[in-house]
Amino acid sequence: MSQVKSVLCVGCTVIDFVTINGSYPKEDTDRRCLDGFWQRGGNASNVSTVLRVLGCKVDFFGMLSRSDAFRVLLDDLCKREIGTKDCPFTERDPPFSSVILAQDSGTRTIIHCNKDYPQTTYEDFSKINLAQYGWVHFEARNTPHTLKMMQSIRDYNQRTGQGIIISLDFETRYEQNQELCAPCDFVVFSKELAGQLGWKTPRQSCVELAAKIPESGPKPVFICPWGSAGAGALDANGNYYEMSSYKQDKVVDTLGAGDSFMAGFIYATLEGQRSLAESVDFANRVASHKITGFGYEHIS
Ligand code: FRU
Repeated sequence: MSQVKSVLCVGCTVIDFVTINGSYPKEDTDRRCLDGFWQRGGNASNVSTVLRVLGCKVDFFGMLSRSDAFRVLLDDLCKREIGTKDCPFTERDPPFSSVILAQDSGTRTIIHCNKDYPQTTYEDFSKINLAQYGWVHFEARNTPHTLKMMQSIRDYNQRTGQGIIISLDFETRYEQNQELCAPCDFVVFSKELAGQLGWKTPRQSCVELAAKIPESGPKPVFICPWGSAGAGALDANGNYYEMSSYKQDKVVDTLGAGDSFMAGFIYATLEGQRSLAESVDFANRVASHKITGFGYEHIS
């Protein structure tokens, strides 16, 4: 990739304990899984992994820990050359997720355990030298601090004439995180959350989201990945595009498919020379390929 500027992914990193099952287990039964593994997970953490696999320079910014249990996450970040130089540390044990993969349905069920693990603050973020980044990607969480982080990038762009791109991965807590959309260039909104809000299609979701942005400012591009139905994208001028997914014969592991979509979109857009529709199509391709194998390594 010719791009010299790095991507900064802001969010959390967790341990994913994954079991592979023929079918989803019945409640209150005791059974053995077919196989299992653990890996570094978390939305921004997975986006960093896939961007590295695709060949981008990436830094991760999130709360790291000095606890023994966290060592495996630090080792993996280091092994993959994902920079963590500006991350603060805590002594607390890492968050983790129990993930059930069901082979017959192709589903991934995630039970996340966070125990109020501390989050990074705007003060931590303000120490970062933004000059090295071409793109900063956020998870929709930690709203007041994330808003200030985004605003500081906007101010930095204005002051220096740089054009650092801001993106948001919006998966939870619609009401609380809604205000994070306005300062962004790109917002990727999850199908699961759209469903919870009663939005039936990617087009409806994009339109509803865009309607909430104040008329006074620029509108972000809204993108809604819709699983096997592909993805929709609404640009700032109101043009809507829909791109179908790539059908796969076998679905092996859907954990992190959304994060892979996000990484594919960032990669394709940063590389330049692609229209919005082409970048979304590339993201669809990355996500569709991801689900054909376990983990993220095969994506390259
Ligand atoms: C997948 C994922 C997992 C993690 C969970 C956090 O998108 O990032 O790796 O356990 O979501 O909510």
